[in-house]
Amino acid sequence: MKVVSPRPFLNYFQFLLHVRLGAAFTFASQKPAIVKINYVFCLVDLCCFDDSAEAKYLNQEEIMNSAVIENPSPEDCANNIFEFSGTKFEPEIAAEVWQQILQHKWLMSEKLGRDIGLRISCIDFLENMDQALKEYIDYKRKDILAEMGAQRIGREKWDTISDSQPPKQLVQRRIILPLAEAALSKKHGVTPPKTIIFFGPPGTGKTHFVKAIAGALSWWYIEILPSMLMVDGIERLGANLHSVMEKARNLEEAVVFIDEFEEIGASRDAATRIDKSITNEFLKQVPLLKNQGNKVLFVCATNYIRELDAALLRPGRFDCIIPVGGLDEDGRRTILEQFLSKLNTGNVDISLIVKMTSRFTPADIEYLFRQAAHFAFEQEHASKQDYRVTTDTFLEILPNIRPSLTEEIIEEFQKDSITYSRT
Ligand SMILES: Nc1ncnc2c1ncn2[C@@H]1O[C@H](COP(=O)(O)OP(=O)(O)OP(=O)(O)O)[C@@H](O)[C@H]1O
Ligand SMILES: [Mg+2]
Repeated sequence: MKVVSPRPFLNYFQFLLHVRLGAAFTFASQKPAIVKINYVFCLVDLCCFDDSAEAKYLNQEEIMNSAVIENPSPEDCANNIFEFSGTKFEPEIAAEVWQQILQHKWLMSEKLGRDIGLRISCIDFLENMDQALKEYIDYKRKDILAEMGAQRIGREKWDTISDSQPPKQLVQRRIILPLAEAALSKKHGVTPPKTIIFFGPPGTGKTHFVKAIAGALSWWYIEILPSMLMVDGIERLGANLHSVMEKARNLEEAVVFIDEFEEIGASRDAATRIDKSITNEFLKQVPLLKNQGNKVLFVCATNYIRELDAALLRPGRFDCIIPVGGLDEDGRRTILEQFLSKLNTGNVDISLIVKMTSRFTPADIEYLFRQAAHFAFEQEHASKQDYRVTTDTFLEILPNIRPSLTEEIIEEFQKDSITYSRT
């Protein structure tokens, strides 16, 4: 046998010994391509084993990622754990714990430079669960950040928001400063926030605020969309939420953001059984998140604060519940100036445009500028002459754009602000 393993084996017996210890191998020249191993009984399909076979040692991660090796059923996981440690788990929980035991086995094997048996891994993991999970996440932090789509946001994003735009000042005072000045906060007994909800009508800049906070703190920005949690079907939503939150909780210097939060945090009265279990899962996760001493800020955003489960909004769950509403003149001017700087402009009376865009949200302003850009492009394409966006361009386009914020929406938002805000 020719071994191409990073951990070469001297002979057939050493190979078998590693099989008994739970290692897995791929064979380059023979079928089946991957030797299936049942971890518990250490069986290996040796029919492919002859002198022409090339074996490659698979580390635990490759084994876990391999589609060819079947995942044990939840019941098998529960049985395995019971057999190794005498601890009983419900099958659904056991399936997750089993994955964590395999991760722990992989990490211990990596650290010690030899394959650690499943029994030892299992017992050690169950005895030091929190510590073991943290160690694994510390070790794999880079991979976890990449897997969760973590982004770096420039500090300049914070400056795109006018100082007069609520809730910028509030966010600066209540969130950014206490988190950035941790030692001073500690000295004065100020507890930096860990959990926040932004609410307000669509397009008012909630997501933009969250990104800007990550930028101002120079922390990672990680966005979790409810649709991402549902990729494996609605039944897996609770389990996916659990695993994402567990990873997120253990990160350092990260803003973790769930947008469209009402999709998972809707009222349990109106919810189906599955929805209820998700809200319950979330209610379990929040205190865990808050008790962890690391630098993670967890932010949710919703357009429908009224639809959220009352249990989520009770004091002690979210540290701040912050309304994000319409823009004042200064807020609109700041955004208009940013977008104008990207166009081929002539003379534009910004003050006039500011006056004409009352009740425009940032999303409406963005739309206005997309229209202006397209208009300018078409004009120049048709006339073959340099076209500059001027006040007249806006006077032409603006009558066709209706602001998103109506009297009714503003009134509802004001009511919600009184009822739900906690700052
Ligand atoms: N201060 C700002 N400067 C420049 N662009 C902004 C600003 N605030 C928001 N925007 C832009 O306006 C658009 C809408 O903002 P955003 O997506 O943050 O709103 P939202 O409240 O999260 O909306 P939704 O409720 O639909 O999720 C985005 O494209 C965003 O980049
Ligand atoms: Mg948003």
